[in-house]
Amino acid sequence: MNCNRRTFLAAAFAAAFTLNLPAFAAKPLVIGFSQVGAESEWRTANTVSIKDAAKKEGITLKFADAQQKQESQVKAIRSFIAQRVDVIAFSPVVESGWDTVLREAKRANIPVILTDRAVNVSDPSLYVSFLGSDFVEEGRRAGRWLVERQKKTPDAVLNIVELQGTVGSAPALDRKKGFEEVIAGNSKLKMLRSQTGDFTRAKGKEVMEAFLKAEGKKINVLYAHNDDMAIGAIQAIEEAGLKPGKDILVISIDGVKGAFEAMIAGKLNVTVECNPLLGPQLMQIARDVAAGKPVPKRVVTQESVFPAEVAAKEFPNRKY
Ligand code: AHR
Repeated sequence: MNCNRRTFLAAAFAAAFTLNLPAFAAKPLVIGFSQVGAESEWRTANTVSIKDAAKKEGITLKFADAQQKQESQVKAIRSFIAQRVDVIAFSPVVESGWDTVLREAKRANIPVILTDRAVNVSDPSLYVSFLGSDFVEEGRRAGRWLVERQKKTPDAVLNIVELQGTVGSAPALDRKKGFEEVIAGNSKLKMLRSQTGDFTRAKGKEVMEAFLKAEGKKINVLYAHNDDMAIGAIQAIEEAGLKPGKDILVISIDGVKGAFEAMIAGKLNVTVECNPLLGPQLMQIARDVAAGKPVPKRVVTQESVFPAEVAAKEFPNRKY
């Protein structure tokens, strides 16, 4: 080592010591994350989990809220590429239309992790890992609950209305598919109407009002693709002079605190869990990817089903 380099290193150590910093602190990992929006209680919990986990891990998180717009997500991903982040993660608002921008990320050598929702791409190497729930199974769980419930009134035909999530999104497509798979061929379960409520309370209420106007007391069951739409619809049912949870059975998905409160109040019959607390696992996958370690292509979140009967007991354990 020549004299100049020794002098430089000594000065660097002295400066680091004075500033109370490690002399050669590793550069923090930088993740660009594009979130769907803030459409539901679930989404808010998901955002908090991701931000908290990044902070705890000392990871720099560049966070962009797409307000449920695919164009905004594409724009955010392009901006992350331009900023040369280490890893891009995103929860795609809809399934299709990602090939071009993901190819751009691949060309720039930036690994992409999907969280929560899947994409439909021609080349699966466009993303390195997908962390999230099995939405088809969630739909099946909702359907199985209803099949069992119908057996309590074996002669009755139950008329169902369905509030779908955002059009073209993985949870809307898959939850519909899983539910239909289970009720198919069951002559006692009949789907009357099915429409999107965009995963929001306001839209859930509005569409349920329209269902009630069109079908009135014929409706026996509401299947909502998330708790927020169910909570909005419960309001519509009450305003129509009916009792949610009794006159109309209410089935939904997520397991947020609001759903537990509705179950405890006797207004919602069952919620199928969809866990939003993906932050810690996402940070781990991002670290492994950045370190060049192999990561699983698919990580499925473990979840459960909560009928109203267990709501009061489970409520204190709920984290979101
Ligand atoms: O993608 C997960 C779904 O998106 C949640 O079920 C819903 O509440 C959210 O908006």
